Amino acid sequence: MNPKDRIDASKLPKHLAVIMDGNGRWAKKQGFFRSFGHENGTKAVREIVEACAELPIPYLTLFAFSTENWNRPKAEVETLMKLLVSSLKKEIDTLEEHNIKLNAIGNLEALPKKAFKELKEVMEKTKSNKHMTLTLALSYGSREEITKTIKEISLKVKNNLISPSDIDESVINNHLYTKDLPDVDLLIRTSGEQRISNFLLWQIAYAELYFTETLWPDYRKNHLFEAIVDYQNRERRFGKTSEQLNN
Ligand code: IPE
Ligand code: IPE
Ligand code: MG
Repeated sequence: MNPKDRIDASKLPKHLAVIMDGNGRWAKKQGFFRSFGHENGTKAVREIVEACAELPIPYLTLFAFSTENWNRPKAEVETLMKLLVSSLKKEIDTLEEHNIKLNAIGNLEALPKKAFKELKEVMEKTKSNKHMTLTLALSYGSREEITKTIKEISLKVKNNLISPSDIDESVINNHLYTKDLPDVDLLIRTSGEQRISNFLLWQIAYAELYFTETLWPDYRKNHLFEAIVDYQNRERRFGKTSEQLNN
């Protein structure tokens, strides 16, 4: 049976996050430069965005560039930033067609001016779209996000806007880049690496983790549907017992 037909439409994850990894290895394997892998990774992005729109999964967050990725060779960083601009220009119609709102998280001011401007434009154009929210994590690092959050809350305490006893999980949530997004239900990482690499540490507290050997440029809709079927066969207990959940 086609993996899509095995999906239970009533048990879809609300928020899917993906660490899109393996572009460089995909290219190297074929004797090409790493940039060729990044270029081919954009096809996988389109497939997964469309698959999520079809199901639908209302929130999709893609890890596109980490705070640590700034430490890569300058030429590779430039390629990635150029690719971001060209993809945004190319995909705006697809976003509109599927009624998808573009959102971004991370230290966006660190992006090159051109990329920042293009990103803001597409976000502005798609801001009223309702079917799905596609969030790009760009210059994103979870530790940077948490540090920023602590600074902002400390400042509010200092200025007597809130008292320390008011600080609870929802206050922290409301200061994160992801304040408008629900918690992550399913986190997928491609390329065989089994680590989080500073992605959404707070937000994945109870996410189901799914690791696959497939390299990102090879990732297609059916791979995603398989991951969702796997997710749906798990019991999410959130600390309770199985008996509690089934009574
Ligand atoms: C993911 O692929 C893309 C980014 C991190 C920007 P990589 O570039 O990390 O590819 P590998 O992991 O080296 O194969
Ligand atoms: C994580 O992948 C970042 C993105 C997918 C954008 P990396 O390839 O940078 O992660 P590490 O260095 O292998 O942990
Ligand atoms: Mg990698």
